[in-house]
Amino acid sequence: MKKNKPRGKKKVPARNRVFTGIPGLDPLIQGGFKKNSINLVAGGAGTGKSILSAQFIVEGLRKGEPGIYITFEEKKKKFFADMEEFGWDLEKYEKEGTFVFLEYTPEQVKSILTEGGGVVESIIEKTKAKRIVIDSITSFSLLYEDELTKKEAALRLFELIDGWDCTALLTSQDESRNDGTISTALEFEVDGIILLYHVKEKGFRKRALEILKMRGTKIPEKTFSLEISPKGIVVNPLKVVAF
Ligand SMILES: Nc1ncnc2c1ncn2[C@@H]1O[C@H](COP(=O)(O)OP(=O)(O)OP(=O)(O)O)[C@@H](O)[C@H]1O
Ligand SMILES: [Mg+2]
Repeated sequence: MKKNKPRGKKKVPARNRVFTGIPGLDPLIQGGFKKNSINLVAGGAGTGKSILSAQFIVEGLRKGEPGIYITFEEKKKKFFADMEEFGWDLEKYEKEGTFVFLEYTPEQVKSILTEGGGVVESIIEKTKAKRIVIDSITSFSLLYEDELTKKEAALRLFELIDGWDCTALLTSQDESRNDGTISTALEFEVDGIILLYHVKEKGFRKRALEILKMRGTKIPEKTFSLEISPKGIVVNPLKVVAF
């Protein structure tokens, strides 16, 4: 990175940081995800995991960083239409060849582990992807029976991702977090964890985001208000949520 960059003209990420694409979030995590880190976004149903993940990919696409979205849950046509609501034209990027949407079964991802990268690796090489999403890791880990094999499989997956020169975002369905903890086999393995909430209080639901961990990063010990706006997810760093 050049020294003495003109300030205030064009936003550039801090050294070794990757903009998340979520307004309000980057300043809370020293400028973004660490480059080539593996991050988890965990939360219950409808908390915004997939929207946040798509937004992370779109941020890259807008900056010329190709991206891959691997999902077990979403159907492409529906997903593209839902994301279009936020003004994200995934089809355009797909046609350009900078975005690849992979509807995979967990078994297919499992076979990537045994093949040592397989199809995904060749897509990454072809597209020069810099961002990858796996939505969700929960369905994948259900393939493994006990905690130990789940953990071993996750570690194998992470080893693969480590070799890809990509910043990764994985989603995890996690409801049991009233105390702000998560219960996946992955929590100690990933570099960063973001928790999303949609909590009912006095008849209203509040959306919120918390950074549970981010290796090598000073994080705020607070939970922030989150809104799903017409342009996607926005975090309000000035509005702390208590519940
Ligand atoms: N265009 C939109 N504008 C505002 N809010 C929206 C819009 N589209 C979806 N939402 C809200 O976002 C929620 C879904 O977000 P998302 O699909 O990212 O959740 P998720 O955490 O991935 O859920 P799941 O666990 O079911 O996969 C919807 O339930 C709805 O409340
Ligand atoms: Mg989802």
